[in-house]
Amino acid sequence: MKIALPIAFALLCGPLAHAEDKLVGGPYAIHVGPRSATVVWVVESSQTSIGTQPGRADKTNPALRAEKVSFTGLKPGTTYYYDAAGRDEGKGSFKTPPAGPANFQFVVYGDTRTRHDVHRKVIDAILKYAAPDFVLHTGDLVENGADSALWPTFFGIERELLRKAAFYPSLGNHERNDRQYYDFFEVTTPYYSFDWGSAHFIVLNSDIGNVSSSAALRDTYWKEQVRWLEEDLEKSQGADFRFLIAHHPPITAVERRQGNNPQMTALMPLFEKYKLTAGFFGHDHNYQHYLSNGVHYFITGGGGAPLYDVNQPPPGITRKVASTEHFVAVKVEGKTARVEAIQLDGNPLEVTELGK
Ligand SMILES: [Fe+2]
Repeated sequence: MKIALPIAFALLCGPLAHAEDKLVGGPYAIHVGPRSATVVWVVESSQTSIGTQPGRADKTNPALRAEKVSFTGLKPGTTYYYDAAGRDEGKGSFKTPPAGPANFQFVVYGDTRTRHDVHRKVIDAILKYAAPDFVLHTGDLVENGADSALWPTFFGIERELLRKAAFYPSLGNHERNDRQYYDFFEVTTPYYSFDWGSAHFIVLNSDIGNVSSSAALRDTYWKEQVRWLEEDLEKSQGADFRFLIAHHPPITAVERRQGNNPQMTALMPLFEKYKLTAGFFGHDHNYQHYLSNGVHYFITGGGGAPLYDVNQPPPGITRKVASTEHFVAVKVEGKTARVEAIQLDGNPLEVTELGK
């Protein structure tokens, strides 16, 4: 009898504690390849308050846990429907990339960290005016990646989109290089690449400032990343399109931020050498499009954060600048990629055809 009690207690408490977990993020599909994918959902297991007086709660943060299941042996170019954690709200789907050339569509947006009402409108507009096979985020998902209270808001707004399309994030400075970003998106290295049909995608970690407090370590990290980038660009020369995503832009029309990202600007000759089709960036909260030495540069940071002016467009290379909320949809059809910057009312801001 003496040992029966703890066992009964454990049996009773285990399932009950789990049943009380609240789904606060996802489900969403990450690491989606032709034959594998990981489905993730985030649960809140409890909350903890903090205050400057006993019994006073100035701030309450949730304890979050990402749960993940990986699948292998999948078929390329196939839609899979999943049922995460056996809950109704855990249902979703994603598409695996096709094995060879095929038409597809993806969406790029970013800087969703603040003005949640605008972020919600951007997601609603994507759901209404686009049908992405997958989604790329240019970074600054939340205002402070270390604050667990902010992630359920992000995931709540993104929910209907992320349960329909695979998600490929990039790290913004507001993620603060926090372990929660690494955990929620099962990131081992925050720079990576993948193929979708005839296109190659490279995601960089441009948030070098948060890599380390040591200048020497930041320098080592950046050199290693650039070495990897060059190798990856070289290997992808057979692709019809090479797209790159990073948070910090190499060029900007925001006068007070010009010259702020010299490490990104220094990559432009590499982009030209290896015929990058287009780069998509964020950090500046507006829409910008440049064409410089054959490479298209799009800044799509209109996902919610306060808008910035576009008061000094660089001469000679500027195609379009606009201080407005938007997202970008890219439709790849054969050897052409049609880049549509779309405003929240569905009207196009700019349409560009690449690859002709
Ligand atoms: Fe940023």
